[in-house]
Amino acid sequence: MEFDKDHCIKMNDGNKIPAVGFGTYSPDAVQKSKCEEATKVAIEVGFRHIDGAFVYGTEEEVGRAIHEKIEDGTVKREDIFYTGKLGSTFHRPELVRSCLEQSLKKLKFDYLDLFIIHIPVSLKPGPDLSPMDENGKLIFDIVDLRQTWEAMEACKDAGLVKSIGVSNFNRRQLEMILNKPGLKYKPVLNQVECHPYLNQSKLLTFCKSKDILLEAYCALGSQRDKMWIDQSTPVLLEDPVLGAIAKKYNQSPALVALRYQLQRGIVVLFKSFTRKRIEENFQVFDFQLSEEDMKTIDGLNKNLRYLNLIQLPTPLSTRLLNPTTKTRPKHYSPQETRTQDLWTTLSFHLKMNNGKNTSSIPDFISRVRNQTHISSPCSIPVISPREVPSSGSPASAGDSKRSILYF
Ligand SMILES: NC(=O)c1ccc[n+]([C@@H]2O[C@H](COP(=O)([O-])OP(=O)(O)OC[C@H]3O[C@@H](n4cnc5c(N)ncnc54)[C@H](OP(=O)(O)O)[C@@H]3O)[C@@H](O)[C@H]2O)c1
Repeated sequence: MEFDKDHCIKMNDGNKIPAVGFGTYSPDAVQKSKCEEATKVAIEVGFRHIDGAFVYGTEEEVGRAIHEKIEDGTVKREDIFYTGKLGSTFHRPELVRSCLEQSLKKLKFDYLDLFIIHIPVSLKPGPDLSPMDENGKLIFDIVDLRQTWEAMEACKDAGLVKSIGVSNFNRRQLEMILNKPGLKYKPVLNQVECHPYLNQSKLLTFCKSKDILLEAYCALGSQRDKMWIDQSTPVLLEDPVLGAIAKKYNQSPALVALRYQLQRGIVVLFKSFTRKRIEENFQVFDFQLSEEDMKTIDGLNKNLRYLNLIQLPTPLSTRLLNPTTKTRPKHYSPQETRTQDLWTTLSFHLKMNNGKNTSSIPDFISRVRNQTHISSPCSIPVISPREVPSSGSPASAGDSKRSILYF
């Protein structure tokens, strides 16, 4: 990757982004003041890229930390690159700006450096960030994300954000934006889960071909927050291969995991609320992995996704993983009709194939998407063909979270 002396990379709109960013998501159990303190430390150590989000609920604290570091002369506002994210309950085009303005107000900023669509799944608008029905099922919304994107473009034109991008988009969703008639601005980047166990090589190749940067989150294997992460998944930083490479360079596995992404041309995020580790992570610029070691780390890929932001309704997941079950779930909320349609078709497909021929699922999904009642640009959660087990045998229960994707 080509970065300048400030460790910045040029994006497709001409603006620059620091190649390593400090993450500010903190689990509910952690006091928000820790996030504020750690953000100050990150700036003191030299990090200039801060990754936040409306839904993290920490923008006030992060804003205070940045302002304190501006007031004490450590940095100026223009030295800081702050990323904010559009919450899923604000996807309707008329709501996009209000989400942004709420973030700006909390941060006490006039503009964001980067504003990205957090996930390509729309939820029912309203004060509740995770709207649920009486059965505890998420209530989705039907939004054409191309219109959401136009509202993002309008935020840039209004001078409220310098750059715009997306997060958790797959290739098809990126193409949907890129092929939009009258597209004014391309996304500058796509922020996705990416680490040696899920190296996203295909998505990276696609993004590079379109001059879109890939940005890695969970690059250290995530915070392993019990709310989101299956605790039985392997701990990335305890991987023996990563450990052996780290030893060879006299660095930590965390530094090797961060450096791996930089050398692939990926902007990388990390979160730490520990001063020693924040300081350690700044050394990522001080060493270089050999081509051979990069290849060895590539070989660790096992398409293991730690974070399952939104899962398909449980009965659908269960049914896919155990296709011999015949009963149809009947408790979808009216807002989930499209999911129900998907269920009907999937169920038929599995029946026709005796639950065995899952390899044709990608084709089946594309046929489902082409049906008029599931218009392709809408943000309905669908199964990622990549994640569907390719053999006839259903994935084991332990694999369930990783075998089902939300888009
Ligand atoms: N767009 C999205 O949907 C999305 C999703 C997830 C995350 N993100 C963003 O990406 C950021 C980073 O991802 P993440 O929060 O999932 O976690 P991460 O960066 O993969 O891992 C964080 C964990 O690694 C530990 N750690 C940090 N440096 C270390 C070191 N040098 N040695 C050993 N352990 C170290 C931290 O512990 P301590 O804190 O105890 O030091 C923390 O528990 C988030 O904060 C958020 O801003 C975005």
